[in-house]
Amino acid sequence: MSDSKIVKLVDESSNRSSELPLISGTLGPACIDIGTLYKDTGHFTYDPGYGSTASTKSAITYIDGDEGVLLYRGYPIEQLAEKSSFLEVAYLLLNGELPKPAEFATFEHDITHHTMMHEAQKNFFQGFHHDAHPMAMLAAAVASLSAFYHDDLDVENPADRKMAAIRLIAKMPTIAAACFRYSIGWPMRYPRNNLEYVDRFLHMMFEVPSEPLQLNPVAAKALDLLFILHADHEQNASTSTVRLVGSTGANPYASIAAGITALWGPAHGGANEAVLKQLKEIGTPDNVETAVKRAKDKNDSFRLMGFGHRVYKNFDPRAKIIREMCHKVLAELGVNDPLLDVAMKLEEAALKDDYFVERKLYPNVDFYSGIIYKALGIPTEMFTVMFAIARTSGWIAHWIEQHETPGSRIGRPRQIYTGADVRNYTPGDKR
Ligand code: SDX
Repeated sequence: MSDSKIVKLVDESSNRSSELPLISGTLGPACIDIGTLYKDTGHFTYDPGYGSTASTKSAITYIDGDEGVLLYRGYPIEQLAEKSSFLEVAYLLLNGELPKPAEFATFEHDITHHTMMHEAQKNFFQGFHHDAHPMAMLAAAVASLSAFYHDDLDVENPADRKMAAIRLIAKMPTIAAACFRYSIGWPMRYPRNNLEYVDRFLHMMFEVPSEPLQLNPVAAKALDLLFILHADHEQNASTSTVRLVGSTGANPYASIAAGITALWGPAHGGANEAVLKQLKEIGTPDNVETAVKRAKDKNDSFRLMGFGHRVYKNFDPRAKIIREMCHKVLAELGVNDPLLDVAMKLEEAALKDDYFVERKLYPNVDFYSGIIYKALGIPTEMFTVMFAIARTSGWIAHWIEQHETPGSRIGRPRQIYTGADVRNYTPGDKR
């Protein structure tokens, strides 16, 4: 990482200047370190959406939005999607290297033996109305893990941080399945240690007391691949939320719960649920043109959900993989979903339209994923919960990386104040 170059910034109105180091990483654009700018010039910088602002250094994930490149710890997402498994990717994100067989066996054993919820935690669900959104229940249940583990957790202790990572990755599927079971009035299922991670989750989701569940390897492989693709994505909104909350010293369960709530938004992870609802609303390929027209109309708040991205100005590599998966998984499951035809027609129409081409709006990770979740029997309201299960591995990897980075400080942005100038209090009868 070379820090030798300097950028000189001169404020001609005051003739004050600042010499700012240019920091380069392994890959990607160099960054101007503005740490001394306020001291040198009396000015802040302003970038409300952080479109040109790096909030941290990180070695976990790299994205090249123009080229459509996504690397987890340097490994291209296409290779991991083809050759790895979600649990191996979770190990990679946490530890920086792919595990040797013995390392993976230990990691998998640890995950398997921390999958159960505390029995008392099940009582939290009773407080929800049966039709509570699963993301509301997930956020509350994960935050409640703080109540069970906060007291014996030292966030400065690497072993405690590692145990928190194991617990979160292990328990997320159990809690997620419990949210689903509660919402449909089915009894919750205990995790089965003789099953692998995704099969164990599918068993907790769909096994009914009255008959054994016939696990489907096609479904398990498809879900494992979707979890790999959703595991991490550098400083997206929910990961940045986890880092900001973690920077205060908050415990990992509270930090991840904050990430879950940030992910829920339809501009972020909530888009996968919004895409399915939008495809159903469009209904048939014949209505696609109208949808595209509405998405372009500035007077209409309608947007094509699953389209566009802050970073990708080319195809989201994950969307490419998921699009190919759609055809394969639906064929293998013998599912014929007309919404896939609507999605394909929508993509074709948008990618030919100048409005989308000029703005470099392409399908993102959320555009096709819901079609596969639906084919696996997962209800629409659970789509973002699926995203959260996978992203927990990335969130906790970033939370740990931040704690391992020397000199990390509490995140505390400044602002441009646009309110009233100083003024004196006036008594009520004088207002
Ligand atoms: C995820 O950050 C990550 O990495 C996120 C994620 C991850 O893995 O963590 O990749 C997961 O969140 C994917 C994104 C899911 N969200 C959606 O699919 C919702 C629909 N997309 C948009 O809301 C939007 O594209 C965002 C939120 C994704 C990106 O917003 P930006 O970067 O702020 O872009 P913008 O709103 O400034 O849009 C630029 C232009 C605008 O038009 P103009 O003002 O230039 O005329 O493009 C237009 C926007 O109106 N535009 C769209 C559009 N997305 C952007 N117009 C119609 N439909 C859309 N989907």
